[in-house]
Amino acid sequence: MRLSKRLDNLPPYLFVEINRRIAEKKARGEDVINFAVGDPDMPTPKHIIDQLCQAARIPANNKYPETAGLPELRQAIAKWYHRRFGVTLDPTKEVLPLIGSKEGIGHISFCLIDSGDLALVPDPGYPVYSMRTLLAGGKPYFLPLTEKNDFLPELENIPREVTKKAKILWLNYPNNPTGAVTDVAFFQKAVDFARKNNLVICHDAPYTEVVFDGYLPPSLMQVSEAREVGIEFHSLSKTYNMTGWRIGMAVGNERMIDALFRFKSNLDSGIPQAIQQAAIEALTGPQDSIAGQNAIYQRRRDRLVKALNDIGLKSRLPKAGFYVWARIPGRYTSVQFTTELLDKANVAVTPGTGYGSAGEGYVRLSLTLSDDRLDEGISRLMKWHKAK
Ligand SMILES: Cc1ncc(COP(=O)(O)O)c(C=O)c1O
Repeated sequence: MRLSKRLDNLPPYLFVEINRRIAEKKARGEDVINFAVGDPDMPTPKHIIDQLCQAARIPANNKYPETAGLPELRQAIAKWYHRRFGVTLDPTKEVLPLIGSKEGIGHISFCLIDSGDLALVPDPGYPVYSMRTLLAGGKPYFLPLTEKNDFLPELENIPREVTKKAKILWLNYPNNPTGAVTDVAFFQKAVDFARKNNLVICHDAPYTEVVFDGYLPPSLMQVSEAREVGIEFHSLSKTYNMTGWRIGMAVGNERMIDALFRFKSNLDSGIPQAIQQAAIEALTGPQDSIAGQNAIYQRRRDRLVKALNDIGLKSRLPKAGFYVWARIPGRYTSVQFTTELLDKANVAVTPGTGYGSAGEGYVRLSLTLSDDRLDEGISRLMKWHKAK
């Protein structure tokens, strides 16, 4: 068999390899504390599951869904955006439900990137931005996010010959993996940059509702000219603990939404309707579960960040998202550190370089494990540190 050349430079998805190593250990009877994957440990709120069960029994829902999603879902998304960000969206033209935001993030590159085009991609960053650029025949141009620049790309330093070839600027705030946040002023700067250089912004914003210390992240769409040049991806995965149900959305520029719709309609057959009806319940029903779970993440964040700083892994308190970005001692690479921690302490974390070369010197820890597993993980980290 000869596989396509397209696959030659495509490594396995970051977490496939981490999960394989954890599974090997588990098969040997070892108990691994997993700080690696960001998948909420708390359940989908009951009223959403009740709606899902009820919707699963409706005969019309075993038919093929429409790629464009139920009109009621597009309206619910528009209303949610208005309630949360004060942004008005046309649900018929500026909203598109997705099979999880990862699906749209991946497919938008195929709508915009031609062979030889560049995409401006944050480094470290969610790997899908660069991998899908490559698969679409383009090349990522990496924008380093460092502590010095508060993990914001320095748009003014991008060379002119790069902006000429660039089609997309990828942004992601609250940021995975660094935990950084930003404000409307930065989004305004990015929109001005995109308009000046004739490129589009894809803002990936699945963590805007996982927030601490009273902080509320903005939407790119709060910038009045944003929808001339950009779209925003959002998701129900993290807000309502719905990663497994696979539902998210893209909102913003009408042409980009239409292009994504056209591409998708030739590829997938929509989101199961029962899931769409559960999503309507999530977006329009009671929202009180969010504050409760954020309080839990915040307590975990405080405990973990203190412990990491105590053992010399310098970490900031993230204001949003459920990741801690920890600086490791200089004698290790991030892969060496991760490997030693897994081998010696049965604690899994993600190497910073899994998110790009600027992630060297860091590891990422997720807060999505139960309080007792988190405490056990902290105590293993402490013991491992003492024994060294
Ligand atoms: C930055 C970022 N974007 C997108 C996603 C994908 O989320 P979804 O479950 O909506 O596909 C994730 C998931 O971890 C993420 O961290």
